[in-house]
Amino acid sequence: MYRTHNCGELNINNLNQNVTLAGWVQKSRDLGGMTFVDLRDRYGITQLVFNSETNKTLADQAQKLGREFVIQAAGKVIERESKNAKNPTGEIEIEVSELNILNASKTPPFTIETESDGGDELRMKYRYLDLRREPLQQNIALRHRLSVETRKYLDAQHFFEIETPFLIKSTPEGARDFVVPSRMNKGQFYALPQSPQTFKQILMVSGYDRYFQIVRCFRDEDLRADRQPEFTQIDCEMAFVEQEDILQTFEGLVRHLFKTVKGIELPEFVRMPYSEAMEKYGSDKPDLRFGMEFVDFTTLGQGKGFKVFDSVEAILGINASGCANYSRKELDALTDFVRKPQIGANGLVYVKCNEDGTFKSSVDKFFNQAQLAEWAEKAGAEKGDLLLLLAGDKAKTQKQLNELRLEMGNKLGLRDKTVYAPMWVLDFPLLEWDEDTKRFYAMHHPFTSPKPEDIPLLTENPGKVRANAYDMVINGVELGGGSIRIHDKEVQKNMFTLLGFSDEEAQAQFGFLMNAFEYGAPPHGGIAFGFDRLCAMFGGHDSIRDYIAFPKNNSGRDLMIDSPSVISTEQMVELGLDYRTES
Ligand code: AMO
Repeated sequence: MYRTHNCGELNINNLNQNVTLAGWVQKSRDLGGMTFVDLRDRYGITQLVFNSETNKTLADQAQKLGREFVIQAAGKVIERESKNAKNPTGEIEIEVSELNILNASKTPPFTIETESDGGDELRMKYRYLDLRREPLQQNIALRHRLSVETRKYLDAQHFFEIETPFLIKSTPEGARDFVVPSRMNKGQFYALPQSPQTFKQILMVSGYDRYFQIVRCFRDEDLRADRQPEFTQIDCEMAFVEQEDILQTFEGLVRHLFKTVKGIELPEFVRMPYSEAMEKYGSDKPDLRFGMEFVDFTTLGQGKGFKVFDSVEAILGINASGCANYSRKELDALTDFVRKPQIGANGLVYVKCNEDGTFKSSVDKFFNQAQLAEWAEKAGAEKGDLLLLLAGDKAKTQKQLNELRLEMGNKLGLRDKTVYAPMWVLDFPLLEWDEDTKRFYAMHHPFTSPKPEDIPLLTENPGKVRANAYDMVINGVELGGGSIRIHDKEVQKNMFTLLGFSDEEAQAQFGFLMNAFEYGAPPHGGIAFGFDRLCAMFGGHDSIRDYIAFPKNNSGRDLMIDSPSVISTEQMVELGLDYRTES
């Protein structure tokens, strides 16, 4: 037996027991005849002590231990002289009588402690060392817990976990596909799934009326803190359901996770149509931890001679409560913020609602006190508040003001990580018009059903059709999304036509699904959660990277295995990829 206990479990109740531990040397220090070694494994750290007076050979051996050596140590549990209340094993230490070096280690390139001194790149390259650090071990443990609880809940709800293939054909989720060349079918390619969407719908046709899978998805898209090229979904589908059934079932899942993993009872889920989310917050994933709803100043602001306002489609603003005392410098910083290229506003108009009842604005030349008072009234602003206004094209201004609202939320400490504001955003538009290509795209994916009452609009005004689609959003993070699907072959065919697919193209890409729909497709719908995002939210972080054991960097590279990489000419030829050899 390598060990009788792990490094996190011994305490004062184990005094005088003879134990054997195994693990990595985190740190060792010599203090006048005594050598102390911190021994670490994934359960914790236990202090070993070697006394040169009682056993000189052993103490000499201990002094030679380097960081990250793998050792086995046997000895007696004794009470420590100087206790460490922060560590669960901090009241005891092991008086070692036997030491066995299981493996030596090179000196690691960064410290393997809670706060490491290693930069991002270095830690990615030596991910196996970074993963030894406690914060990462906690993240991985959290991820495990969440996947176990997800399976428990869904199993209790009679869902089957069913695997679907990775070597498939393109799935239309809106990103680019990663493709895999086929050796046996030269010149042909598999695509890796952007999601198991079509397979889960086919499983409904096959009668498995509750399916789920914790599944890897692949998307070749620009990466950000909340996006990885391969990521994991909790992917689900149900047959014989309506939107309400799905909302209830998956609200239930997320409640169960918060309850069992964090001990938190979530408040009621707000339900908000997409149109309202855009009007009030300029975002389809609003952070409802705070108010600061948009105020429309278009009518009040126009026709008073201020050209910037007169020439625009919309003037929108927010009320930053208690910020009238902002200095010139602070206001300039906010203007710089909205002017950043990523946000792209031309400028920022402010109105300070002074404590003495007067107003001070950046547009005093054009608007008198009475007019500014009307603005304040419209915004429900009180003495001491600050109005911040942006103007321009409506959709763009909404987007910009959303960023400013979130920034003000951060500044004012309104985005507390221990508060959760869950919601469903409902009734998304079915289609999105693209000016460049002059055609409609499916906002969710082409299998999403229109709301039945909007079906007549499909021919008259397709842009106005609402989808039977929903997103779950918590604290401004889109955790999941799904829809009720089209299960009628004719409606699906019309949808493909609207999206600009010819019959041949639709048949070539999705013929299998449409054929399946000819053999009794039940009404069905589903949802998929971003599992990595869920883990990051539970861990209180924005970046999903540290909740994935082996993530990629922002250029899509795995620095540890150095991938992607070139392949040999032989391999290229075998795959039919080396066209240089063909002529
Ligand atoms: P959707 O494309 O909205 O829907 O994806 C579902 C959820 O997956 C997460 N997600 C990501 N997480 C990390 N990195 C990425 N690159 C990434 N892309 C998406 C998000 C998102 O809400 N098949 C449909 C679901 C359905 O209709 O049932 C789908 O994939 O949290």
